[in-house]
Amino acid sequence: MNFREEQKQRTEQIEQILRRFLPEAKGEQRLIMEAMEYSLLAGGKRLRPMLMWETYRLFGGKGSVVEPFMAAMEMIHTYSLVHDDLPAMDNDEYRRGRKTTHVVYGEDMGILAGDALLNYAFETASQAFDLEDTDFLRVGKAMQILAKKAGIYGMIGGQVVDVKAAGEAISGEKLLIIYELKTGALIESAMMIGAVLAGADEAQTASVERIAKKVGLAFQIQDDILDVTGSQEVLGKPIHSDEKNEKTTYVTWKGLEASRAEVERLSKEAVEELRGLKPADPFLEELLLSLIHREK
Ligand code: IPE
Ligand code: IPE
Ligand code: MG
Ligand code: MG
Ligand code: MG
Repeated sequence: MNFREEQKQRTEQIEQILRRFLPEAKGEQRLIMEAMEYSLLAGGKRLRPMLMWETYRLFGGKGSVVEPFMAAMEMIHTYSLVHDDLPAMDNDEYRRGRKTTHVVYGEDMGILAGDALLNYAFETASQAFDLEDTDFLRVGKAMQILAKKAGIYGMIGGQVVDVKAAGEAISGEKLLIIYELKTGALIESAMMIGAVLAGADEAQTASVERIAKKVGLAFQIQDDILDVTGSQEVLGKPIHSDEKNEKTTYVTWKGLEASRAEVERLSKEAVEELRGLKPADPFLEELLLSLIHREK
């Protein structure tokens, strides 16, 4: 199987896992459950669960304990997008090829669907405690990473600085802090959780965190590039959102060419460092390198 076929197959497996862990829309809560499903099953790239899964395998993980965490990870990421698109934040009307959740379900349900996905993520991850032969310490540690990286010292913290910096010229230093937090933190948690659940020790987990930080930074710079050079049909979300919101981005700071070079440098460094840590993992390496030229 070549890389593209393997990526497609794994994406489909992740879709199945997501469906399995989502609540069935029924009863008085039907509306919120539909809104959760609308945003979650809209077909994102599923990069974070894919990174988690592959890192789990890289460290020798074999069981199903990673599955509730993969679902939880994508729920948290999806909630961050639902809220990111709200009128009070980036105010965008398309996401993952469809109208944004608040446009379809109203702003009230958009807010609540995001809240619901965040809370349900932890309900879902905690199902790992109920599995047979579960290593409680590893699951507890993974829950802690998930909570921390999504929170005020992670993604939410980054979104706060990002939103407050709109309309302002900010320093490169501050921009990098925003990227490390708003985007890097969840990508770090994905890979760290995979490692921890498979039994990685503290030093190994810290190495994984450093590698993932580079991946996250490269990922956000490429996102900025695509906001300028991409198309809504391919991306599934509007272009020129950053310009509309007067955001300083890596592209406005350094220009397109330097931004592209930085994505390449960071991605290649991440692959190098991964090789220093573990025997080569062709799928993971190709996945990371494919992010350099991604068009969506
Ligand atoms: C978009 O993330 C938000 C950023 C952190 C740049 P993705 O580009 O992974 O979005 P989906 O999950 O594929 O929709
Ligand atoms: C968002 O950054 C990162 C999140 C935590 C959601 P952007 O605002 O650039 O993401 P997009 O371009 O809307 O996907
Ligand atoms: Mg944003
Ligand atoms: Mg946005
Ligand atoms: Mg963007």
